[in-house]
Amino acid sequence: MVFVRCVVLYSLVGMLLLFGRFTEQLSIPLKRMKSPLHMMMEVGTDFEQVEELERAMWNKPPKPKYNDSVALFKYLDNEFYGEIGLGHPAQKVKMIFDTAWANTYVASEKCSYFNIACRLHNRYDAKKSTTYVKDGTPFNVDLGSSNLTGFLSTDRLNIGHLVVENQTFAEIVKLPMIYLFSIADGVVGLAYDSLSIDNVVPVFYNIMKQNLIKAPPIFSFYINRDRTTDRGGNLILGASEKKHYNGSFTYLPVTKKEYWQFHMDKIDVDLGTKLIPFCENGCEALIDTSTTTITGPASEIEKIHEILPVSPFVLGRYRVPCNKVIKLPAIHFVLQGKNFTLKGPDYVQEITKWGFTVCLSALVGNEASNIWSLGASFIAQYYTEFDMKSDRIGFAKANI
Ligand SMILES: *[C@@H]1O[C@H](CO)[C@@H](O)[C@H](O)[C@H]1NC(C)=O
Ligand SMILES: *[C@@H]1O[C@H](CO)[C@@H](O)[C@H](O)[C@H]1NC(C)=O
Ligand SMILES: *[C@@H]1O[C@H](CO)[C@@H](O)[C@H](O)[C@H]1NC(C)=O
Ligand SMILES: *[C@@H]1O[C@H](CO)[C@@H](O)[C@H](O)[C@H]1NC(C)=O
Ligand SMILES: *[C@@H]1O[C@H](CO)[C@@H](O)[C@H](O)[C@H]1NC(C)=O
Repeated sequence: MVFVRCVVLYSLVGMLLLFGRFTEQLSIPLKRMKSPLHMMMEVGTDFEQVEELERAMWNKPPKPKYNDSVALFKYLDNEFYGEIGLGHPAQKVKMIFDTAWANTYVASEKCSYFNIACRLHNRYDAKKSTTYVKDGTPFNVDLGSSNLTGFLSTDRLNIGHLVVENQTFAEIVKLPMIYLFSIADGVVGLAYDSLSIDNVVPVFYNIMKQNLIKAPPIFSFYINRDRTTDRGGNLILGASEKKHYNGSFTYLPVTKKEYWQFHMDKIDVDLGTKLIPFCENGCEALIDTSTTTITGPASEIEKIHEILPVSPFVLGRYRVPCNKVIKLPAIHFVLQGKNFTLKGPDYVQEITKWGFTVCLSALVGNEASNIWSLGASFIAQYYTEFDMKSDRIGFAKANI
């Protein structure tokens, strides 16, 4: 969900950079991260490959496919993103695919020269696209401390091998400072259209309307949190990929067609000798593919952290000594009477930046909502299928 992610996670990485030096945690650089300078040099990368692919498509309109897939990459065990193209010739941008948000937005070439967060990202330039159609409707999202501001535009959108025509999205001209810490240039919303700002038709609705895949209206996520690789998994359009899960799906009906929301029976923290229950009389939950965290009502998350060997960190987050992660209790999310279990390492984020590593509980309290939100920590263990035909969500044990 855009709001939680922005405020909690981006500022978290910022804080890490500021405070990392002064806290006494382990410092094991696991892999080299790109420096901001390096990233700046990459701004405006070459589009040749996409153009070439597109030229081929231009001459021969694509036939509907049964399914398609987009490779995901990850950044700081925090952000999962994939590349799409906008306009013709296609301009490559890195996008987060967000099931808890319905709109698509991207940094705009029209943002001010002084908006650093925007200038350090790839930006969509309508002037360079022959398929651009002007819209101009104002777009504004209040993030609390700042606003995400821009206007709507319509253009071609390449996703995987699919070419979506006339996709309306927001060009962002005021990108809040916290986005400096995000590697993505924007977001593709995959929630229900009832959540869409300015009544824009979301990308997946257009894929189905334009018959780009012949399959049923489903998409699915495979998330890979293997710390030795930057490959973050796949977004699969029109199918679930058998090689990435074992056994069959447990399906839960969508309880409110805005978010991908469903009913959760209970949560048990398993101390071995006893189970400590949370969400005791059942609760509502949703799947959020934009973040690694699992959020829940602040009071309940607080109580869970009282049980765990954690200490308060910054921004309401909790730190786990990295050598204790393996000993953390399992947490069972009970769905339709079945345990969906996360072990300690599954619900810990290990963030390494500039040689500093910190292990953080992925559980985050939310003061604003009673709905639990399960992110990539959960999906990495349970392959997730989003089914718009039957309005249901399916989980199956991920095959890592
Ligand atoms: C942010 O958005 C809110 C709600 O639309 C609006 O009331 C407020 O004036 C905006 N703030 C800025 C700084 O534009
Ligand atoms: C896109 O919009 C143009 C102009 O409005 C229209 O001619 C064309 O048929 C549309 N394409 C699709 C696939 O909807
Ligand atoms: C995707 O579609 C192709 C045919 O285009 C089919 O052979 C393949 O099995 C499909 N994959 C899945 C995961 O359904
Ligand atoms: C979940 O697993 C725990 C530990 O094995 C067990 O005690 C509990 O009964 C299970 N709950 C369900 C609903 O199967
Ligand atoms: C999935 O099944 C395969 C083959 O049966 C097995 O090798 C693998 O360990 C299983 N993975 C999980 C996560 O259970």
